[in-house]
Parts: sequence; structure tokens; C-alpha cells
Amino acid sequence: MTAQILSGKEVAQKFRKRVRLRVQKLVDRGLKPPHLTVVQVGDDPGSTVYVRNKVKTCKKLGLESTMHKLEESVSREELSTLIQKLNADADISGILVQLPLPAHLNATEIISEVDPARDVDCLHPANVGRLWLGDSFVTPCTPQGIIEILDHYGIGLKGKRAVIIGRSNIVGKPLAALMLARHATVTICHSRTVDLPAVAREADVLVAAAGKAELVTAEYVKDGAVVIDVGVNRKVDEDGEKKLVGDVDFTAVSEKASAITPVPGGVGPMTIAMLMVNTLGCYEYQHGLSEQGFGT
Ligand code: GUN
Repeated sequence: MTAQILSGKEVAQKFRKRVRLRVQKLVDRGLKPPHLTVVQVGDDPGSTVYVRNKVKTCKKLGLESTMHKLEESVSREELSTLIQKLNADADISGILVQLPLPAHLNATEIISEVDPARDVDCLHPANVGRLWLGDSFVTPCTPQGIIEILDHYGIGLKGKRAVIIGRSNIVGKPLAALMLARHATVTICHSRTVDLPAVAREADVLVAAAGKAELVTAEYVKDGAVVIDVGVNRKVDEDGEKKLVGDVDFTAVSEKASAITPVPGGVGPMTIAMLMVNTLGCYEYQHGLSEQGFGT
């Protein structure tokens, strides 16, 4: 079997278009466009690329964006002061603190200071709580992007066994909440899971979000499973060329899976598209146009 390719790139296009048209309508009515502000601490090269893409996408879709780049050595107080200032700025629809933060800053503490009504990442404890209660204000970008890919291709979750490799606060844990809400039976695995390949082979839908290049080989995959690759790893191939690979050995796994997301062009483009959706959603909430922070 050769797997169907689940093109996040295509699905993301559909969402970006929706956001662009909605923003255009707001502007046509004489309203200001939604405004995303991104806070980056330090110079992590991966973060710099992500932040640049976020700002670029805002521009393309007609959203306003600002960027605050702080020194690696910034103190907790200085960062808090900036967040308080952004919280007090009524023109800002969404506030995103790019992760990871340097070791001297506690991400949970910092994110708790962001106004939950502008938490476009769904990382604030109030929004994480609402997510698990089934009463989401916003949904987390990468996990929601995965759900949208599955929906777009008509892949249901009801009654399915979903196995997620990776327990991060940004992907693994919140994705489990979204999949549970869709009536999947969900298992979260991690580095201490005993016999990971055997657990992974139970999956009808297998999600690799471990941050380990090509961890998931054919041995991890049941015949006909749907495989979602969240990994973004830089690798130098045999010819010395730099390339991007996921957490899945794409060539081997696509012979066994029924459907698979590629890297690049899979989950990655969905994360930014969902960020745009959330920024618009937070704006609409703040302007009394909607009761929650998402929904196009
Ligand atoms: N670092 C990598 N991905 C993300 C993301 O989606 N949001 C934030 N805040 N930081 C990230």
C-alpha cells in the first residue's frame, strides 16, 4: 500500500483564505484589522524563523503585527513589564510569547501573565483548563491544525485508537484533549514508555510529536494506520545537503500507512494558519462579535 498524502499545505490555504476575506470585510466596515504581537526572547535560530513566518503571514492576510525581540538576559521583571503593557493595549488582539524561553525564565509563570482573552496559543492555565473541560475559548494551534487536516480528508476519530508520541504542553497533551472530545481512545507515550513500538502499533491514528528525527519506523505502524508527523528536524543527508525531516521515516512508513502527513507541507503550515484563525477569533471576541476566541 502507498499512503495517501495529507497535504496540510492545501488545508492551510483554505483557512488562510477564510481569514483574509473576513479581515477584508472588517476593514471594509471601517474597523481596524486584528493585531498579533509576538514576543521573542533571545536569538534561537529556529524561533527566529518561526517568528518571521508568523509576521509574514499576518501581512499577507491583512492582519497587523508587531514584534518585540528581547535580549537573552532579560529579567523576569522586564519581561513582565512588557507583557503588562501589551495587556493594557486595547489595539492588540493576540499576544504570543515564543517558546522556548531561556532557562532563567519560567514559561508557565510568564504565560500566566498574558491576558487569557488574547492567549492565541491556548497556553494560559485558564484556557488549558477550559480546553479539558470541553468549554474552549481558544484551541491550541498545532493540535487544532491536526484535527482540521483529519476533518478535511474525512478521517473520523470516533471509537478509534489514537496514540500520541510526545507529552509536551504545546502538542501532545492538548491534542489528547481534542481527540478525546472527538471520542477517540487516546494513549500518550513518552521517552519512558516501555516497548513504544508495540504501543504505537495499536494506533489507528498515530501522531509523532517527540522531536526526534525519524523515530517512527515501519515497525511502529499498524497496516493501514493514519500517521501524523509533527516533527521538524534539521538533518544533513548523505550528500552533505541540509534537509528538513519529521519524526517519521517517511519512505518506509508510507508503504504501510493508509495516509500520512509529509514534512514539510504537512502539520507545519497548519500551525500558522490556526494562529491566524485564533488571532481573528480573539479580535472578534474583544469586539463583541463572537463569544469565543476561535471559529472561522
Ligand atoms: N515554539 C514552537 N512552536 C511554537 C508555538 O506554536 N507557539 C509558541 N508560543 N512557541 C512555539
